[in-house]
Amino acid sequence: MNNIKDNDILLDISNLVVHYEMDDEVVEAVNNISFSVRKGEAFGIIGETGAGKTTTALSIMRLLPEPRAHIIGGTIKFGEEDLTAATKKQMTKIRGRRISMIFQDPMTALNPVQRVGEQIEEVIALHNPRFSKSEIMLAGMEMLREVGIPVERYKDYPFQFSGGMKQRVVIAMALACKPDMIIADEPTTALDVTIQAQVLELIKELKAKYGTAVVLITHDFGVVSEICDRCAVMYGGEFVECGTLVDIFKNPRHPYTRGLFDSLPKLDDNARLKPIKGMMPDPTKLPRHCTFAERCDMCIDICMQKDPEETWLSDEHRVKCFRYMDSPVDKAQGRM
Ligand SMILES: Nc1ncnc2c1ncn2[C@@H]1O[C@H](COP(=O)(O)OP(=O)(O)OP(=O)(O)O)[C@@H](O)[C@H]1O
Ligand SMILES: [Mg+2]
Repeated sequence: MNNIKDNDILLDISNLVVHYEMDDEVVEAVNNISFSVRKGEAFGIIGETGAGKTTTALSIMRLLPEPRAHIIGGTIKFGEEDLTAATKKQMTKIRGRRISMIFQDPMTALNPVQRVGEQIEEVIALHNPRFSKSEIMLAGMEMLREVGIPVERYKDYPFQFSGGMKQRVVIAMALACKPDMIIADEPTTALDVTIQAQVLELIKELKAKYGTAVVLITHDFGVVSEICDRCAVMYGGEFVECGTLVDIFKNPRHPYTRGLFDSLPKLDDNARLKPIKGMMPDPTKLPRHCTFAERCDMCIDICMQKDPEETWLSDEHRVKCFRYMDSPVDKAQGRM
């Protein structure tokens, strides 16, 4: 369920359930998640590997690998349209023109044997059928300049670019049609730290300039705190906690969110790293009680018997835990 009701909502996902059907088992990848993203806002989805982040992104783009993947339930409203019901033709129009996606590996989007400028031009031409050749080229060069790459590199091939520059080109292509929303799935994970910071800064600048909404997927709280207005912590296909950055960083209520913070290296004290014990449950054998119970230091009997409902702590902050009131409020300084 979503509590946010305002006119600025661009993406509104309710009770999304996505499964992959294998020969002899079902992977319950996304289990009943709901969230909305406002125009111009950046929403982060953070979680460890296998949590269901990419599956969520691919569901929005309707790029799930069919026939194996199924949207079992829920709605994905984008503006007035329900994307779960959109035809292939409607989705082709929406993708690129209204929603673009950036993947971890820039080579997913780039053709290795085509000049970078031409690849940007293709996107521009697709979305501006009336543009002349020279208008397309000018727009392409402008886009490259916009992402901080010198125009002299326009005719280079992707292999002549570093990883960070390739990701910049992908961002230029994603923005070429001025979409309302960009979904960035771990866009900086493959880059080294300095380049990562530059690419994040670029996304932030372009978001401010064009008012593009961003859904940012990551396993890194640092990335979330750089760009996002709100974020959700995903675990075992569910949102275990969701709120503004202040809610999540200063007042985390779910033991998993707290555990993620405790497992980060800290400079300001001598505390030892505390990794979360155990592993995420197998998504083909998810428990019917709390999915985090087996790993949770605060687990009590009810956690092993029932699945907790989401509790709303404010209009924005919600948590899916029986013991949200018992999470200590401490050590929050320095997280943001
Ligand atoms: N094509 C597929 N076929 C079968 N199972 C899949 C497929 N893609 C993902 N899964 C499974 O669905 C679950 C969620 O995967 P997903 O890729 O959405 O996680 P993620 O949060 O993006 O992880 P990562 O951080 O590793 O990218 C995992 O258990 C994964 O093994
Ligand atoms: Mg992923």
